[in-house]
Amino acid sequence: MYGIVIYLAIEQLPVTVASIFLMTYNSRVNIALIGLGRMGKIHLSHLLNGIPGAAIAAVSDTVYPEDNFRSEFGGFLFSNNPEAVINNPGVAAVVICTPTSSHAELVEKSIEAGKHIFCEKPLDLSLEVTRELLRKAEVADVKLMLGFNRRFDPDFLQARQSAAAGRIGNLQIIKITNRDPAIPPVEFIKNSGGMFMDFSIHDFDMARYIMNKKVVEVFAKGLVFMDKAVGEAGDIDTALITLTFEDGTYAVIDNSRKAVYGYDQRLEIFGDGGMIQVDNTLYNRNSVFDAEGIHQALPLNSFTERYTSSYRKEMELFVEAVRNNTSLPVSSEDIIMATTIAYAAQKSMKEKRPVSI
Ligand SMILES: NC(=O)c1ccc[n+]([C@@H]2O[C@H](COP(=O)([O-])OP(=O)(O)OC[C@H]3O[C@@H](n4cnc5c(N)ncnc54)[C@H](O)[C@@H]3O)[C@@H](O)[C@H]2O)c1
Repeated sequence: MYGIVIYLAIEQLPVTVASIFLMTYNSRVNIALIGLGRMGKIHLSHLLNGIPGAAIAAVSDTVYPEDNFRSEFGGFLFSNNPEAVINNPGVAAVVICTPTSSHAELVEKSIEAGKHIFCEKPLDLSLEVTRELLRKAEVADVKLMLGFNRRFDPDFLQARQSAAAGRIGNLQIIKITNRDPAIPPVEFIKNSGGMFMDFSIHDFDMARYIMNKKVVEVFAKGLVFMDKAVGEAGDIDTALITLTFEDGTYAVIDNSRKAVYGYDQRLEIFGDGGMIQVDNTLYNRNSVFDAEGIHQALPLNSFTERYTSSYRKEMELFVEAVRNNTSLPVSSEDIIMATTIAYAAQKSMKEKRPVSI
């Protein structure tokens, strides 16, 4: 109905005004979103609530019932078959939010269809496949961005800018604490690619991004500390990783799948001229002082709460790069290096030794 109203309205306009209107309308990037789970719903809500220059054109999920989709989200093209939305001629870009094991196939199909791609991390568990997909995207001249959203968190971004501006002198150590509030379901763990590929990969990207130096060595240790079901699924729930940068300085990353007090997301950068700290975002900023001590609210409890603005920002930047044909804020090298470090961390833990990059 809206289409008809718009069409009739345009018919009444002078030709030049109508064509300007149509050019503006058409310069929007029409997006198909694939995978309507946790991440898919976050990105869909941002796309529906106005990412400048973007419009949601189609959605696909292999199991989401179409009737439920229509009653929740309205009348977009919906299909249980992802290829139907990838190959839709009205779609210019694809946002892939499916489980990691399906990324490579969907990315490849999108490249073949000539569609720009935003894909949730990691691109693939295999470094060779990751490289090959990036190569194919380059050859096909389509943009391929990975969801390293933490780069766009306002507090982390500010820390990076302060460090780059020399506020704390020469950077010596970055410490990243990344702890989940609860162990994910074992089924998720089995298909995740393991802690380093699924979870710590964000930290590997952030360490490189903030220090702006090459990583030359990885030393990782990990154990099953909290839940033996994690070990039975072939994974760990606790990890400590040291990265060495090209100039001999360090990143220290500690990960846990379960912090009883919430989603623990902190960062510290130490330099010869000072230190920058980014603390947790709490539910409120009150401190209650009494005879027992000083009491504060807990940290936000999930990635959906903590990183909302960064998820919106990464989508804005992806759309901007597609519309203006400019560079993506996450490069192919960034994707390859974070995957390489995750791969080296697995090897280091298994072989109990530092691994050179
Ligand atoms: N950037 C982040 O902070 C962040 C956080 C969580 C998850 N992730 C990543 O996002 C991806 C999705 O994770 P999630 O937690 O949202 O998963 P999820 O299980 O909640 O949702 C996945 C959805 O994809 C659908 N699906 C599965 N295979 C499909 C296919 N071939 N085609 C279409 N639909 C398909 C499923 O039915 C499900 O609805 C993973 O790669 C994960 O690593 C990123």
